[in-house]
Amino acid sequence: MDELHSLLLDRALNTIRAGQLVAIPTETVYGLGADASNRDAVQKIYQLKGRPANHPLIIHVQAPLEGSKDTEKDWLTVLDPWTRHISETALTLITHFWPGPLTLVFEKSKLVLDCVTGGQSTVAIRSPAHLLTQELLRRFGGGIAAPSANRYGRISPTSAADVETEFPNNPDLLILDGGPCEHGIESTILDVSGEGPPKLLRPGSISPSMIKASTGIDVVSSSGTANQPRVSGTHLAHYAPHTALYLYSESDIASQLSGFMNQEPKLRLAVILWEHEHSHHQEELKAYSQNITFIAIAMDPALLAKQLYRLLRDLDQGQYQGILIPSPPKTEAWDAVRDRLQRASFGSGPSSNNHVSS
Ligand code: TXA
Ligand code: MG
Repeated sequence: MDELHSLLLDRALNTIRAGQLVAIPTETVYGLGADASNRDAVQKIYQLKGRPANHPLIIHVQAPLEGSKDTEKDWLTVLDPWTRHISETALTLITHFWPGPLTLVFEKSKLVLDCVTGGQSTVAIRSPAHLLTQELLRRFGGGIAAPSANRYGRISPTSAADVETEFPNNPDLLILDGGPCEHGIESTILDVSGEGPPKLLRPGSISPSMIKASTGIDVVSSSGTANQPRVSGTHLAHYAPHTALYLYSESDIASQLSGFMNQEPKLRLAVILWEHEHSHHQEELKAYSQNITFIAIAMDPALLAKQLYRLLRDLDQGQYQGILIPSPPKTEAWDAVRDRLQRASFGSGPSSNNHVSS
């Protein structure tokens, strides 16, 4: 660790200890962090985000040091203050995927503050892989409660500059700049609090088939479950840009475009196309080019996940009246990106009425 980062970490540590907020880099998105054991500090997260008090937060914990002789035991020690019970299945998931982009929901211990869990009897925990945040957690020794560092209902930040854009008038907010996020979308969330197989609460870059392949564990879909825990990211209007976002099916782009082109006055649009479509239709696209900016993207779920929020944020600054983006294939590999796009399109637009609760 270089001297600059070491100094920054000292400042971040003092800030967390003093009950103030620190924006932390993770491999998924940036988080807005506070000491998970300090009620006043946690309240500041809700205030700054504008998030309803019943929406629970994730507690971020440190990982055992490399070279540890008994990693399982170390994880149990780390989790002990926060959880009541850890199943064999949960422990297997932890040893395979932590630190990493996987959040697990456990039965909570008495010590976990109600303001962290939104009053629920369960608590969400993850150990992020980003080195700076791991080092901060290690020096701190406690848990850091952190939602994504965006205003409620808006796109998660994937760089330090994005966090600044979200909270422009907060010079006191310390942002730990750890560079751009590696995965670019929020963690996979699994509920391992009850009996039976883990339930998928939010898709992310760790998919059920990856989990099955490396651990043999089956993950089930959470739909239709009784007492389903609240996950604010599951509100339809989430991750939304200000510019109206339309998803189109691949076969549909020509009719979508002609529909828009027949409108008067002509709309300024950003149209995203799969790379192969873009190169295939290059000549036809030239006819539209006056009002429309075409953007080619690779048909690769991990790459699009990494670039998606950056792309939406940049296009949101572009004074477009609409953004068109292709619906990803309906396969598991695309579940996480498709989920975010559907929510972003539902809640998008300058005066969207679709915001379920924001
Ligand atoms: O990748 C991530 O998970 C990022 C980084 C910063 O770690 N965090 C993140 O936090 O996405 P947030 O608050 O934006 O989304 C976490 C989700 C929320 O939708 C929340 O409702 C859900 O986790 N959650 C928290 N506690 C829960 C619980 N006890 N049961 C079910 N869901 C829970
Ligand atoms: Mg969020």
